[in-house]
Amino acid sequence: MNHGCFIDGHWIAPRDGDYKEDVNPSDHSDVIGRFLRAPVGTVDDAVDAARRALPAWSRTSPLVRSQLLEEVSKEISAQSDGLAELLAREEGKTREEALGEVHRASQLFRFFSGEALRSTGEYQESTRPGVSVRIQREPVGVVGIITPWNFPLAIPAWKMGPALAFGNTVVIKPAELVPATAHALFSILERVGFPAGVVNLVTGPGSAVGEALIAHPGIDAISFTGSESVGHHVAATGAANMIRVQLEMGGKNPLLVLADADLELAADIAIDGAFHQTGQRCTASSRLIVEDAAHDRFVELLLDRMRTLRVGHALHPETTMGPVVDERQLAEDLRYIASASAEGGKVYGGERVDREHPGNYLAPALVVGLGNDALINREEVFGPVASVIRVSDYEEGLSVANETVYGLSAGICTTSLSKAEHFQANAEVGMVMVNLPTAGVDPHVPFGGRKRSSYGPREQGSHARHFFTQTKTSYVRP
Ligand code: UN1
Repeated sequence: MNHGCFIDGHWIAPRDGDYKEDVNPSDHSDVIGRFLRAPVGTVDDAVDAARRALPAWSRTSPLVRSQLLEEVSKEISAQSDGLAELLAREEGKTREEALGEVHRASQLFRFFSGEALRSTGEYQESTRPGVSVRIQREPVGVVGIITPWNFPLAIPAWKMGPALAFGNTVVIKPAELVPATAHALFSILERVGFPAGVVNLVTGPGSAVGEALIAHPGIDAISFTGSESVGHHVAATGAANMIRVQLEMGGKNPLLVLADADLELAADIAIDGAFHQTGQRCTASSRLIVEDAAHDRFVELLLDRMRTLRVGHALHPETTMGPVVDERQLAEDLRYIASASAEGGKVYGGERVDREHPGNYLAPALVVGLGNDALINREEVFGPVASVIRVSDYEEGLSVANETVYGLSAGICTTSLSKAEHFQANAEVGMVMVNLPTAGVDPHVPFGGRKRSSYGPREQGSHARHFFTQTKTSYVRP
């Protein structure tokens, strides 16, 4: 079946359009549907529709926006089983992981439903007698949103939720690997009844459709999550058009395990951070930095746990790790694993495996014995690949943790309060986790990193307003 785009309150699916197959990574014989690679003119139509809808939408009562977002949240919850199944089928995360994501998406819309009613301003006395100053927040305008394939529902939710709550209109382009989940979300938005043009969906490749969207003169802001290289280009394009840009990009997140830690707990945390969701998270724990005295025991504990992970079809009940998203990503993962061997690392697991259906199955990989300057420890892999780095003590561990171009999330496993506090204060990242995995974040607090991981104001929580609103300062002499 051919699926099109949602523009100005209508689904459009041209008969002679270019449609691309959406294939299940757990079973290549399962085609989820065929999705439009929209012609560039569709982006113009979407942006025009969003512009036309903006004046009325930005002036709707916040209560109306709040209620619509609340309805979206409820509808996502009501459809959670079906959505989770679709998400698992399309992206390859397990049904349980998918259900977690669906709940998160529902919570995000619920949180921003409340935020719509909490958009407070400020009032100050002017330095000039009799004059008052009012600082109010207004929507930014038409927001272009580009989302990645690894959280096909949650990331659209955490960008669209605040955009809509604060009165902006939206054109979203989801990753080309996961259009079906975006369609399901838009069916909900349609059913809930957003006014025509407030939400628009354009599908297709980043190189054509994404490019047309970010360069479009009719948009006022871009929120992007994806690779660092594309992020650079988005930032440069946004700067050329002088519009605001928010980027979430890569990570090379360290988990520092000290010898005083509860090592069983630390191993559980590392396995979760490294391999949950097939390691396909920008917050994944890809560098496991372990104090010398605990190193060998910790590696043993990790290997024990890795043996219990069951790689398989995302929808099979016994599966604990689904497939890699596609062949291209799998080849990339294997290339990084080969580089680790070539540099002299010992690699456990990490081989392609076959299952009853043809899919992109990769056994989780653990690299041991390489230093922080090895390729595997410098570049983001975005797969089920973690590397153990041996350090002599906490001080060396902290400096290795910070020796990276990224700065998204960093974790420490320790029972020492003073080391945990020191790490919290000195880790050069946007998010610190103490005795918790580097991945897995709450829906109501800021998300984002430093250095090359993020650019622009934070996402999520009440901080989302800094990107999705602009201030106006008014001086009034009555
Ligand atoms: C999480 O770790 O729960 O693309 C969220 C990503 C992030 C989201 C991670 N933006 O992986």
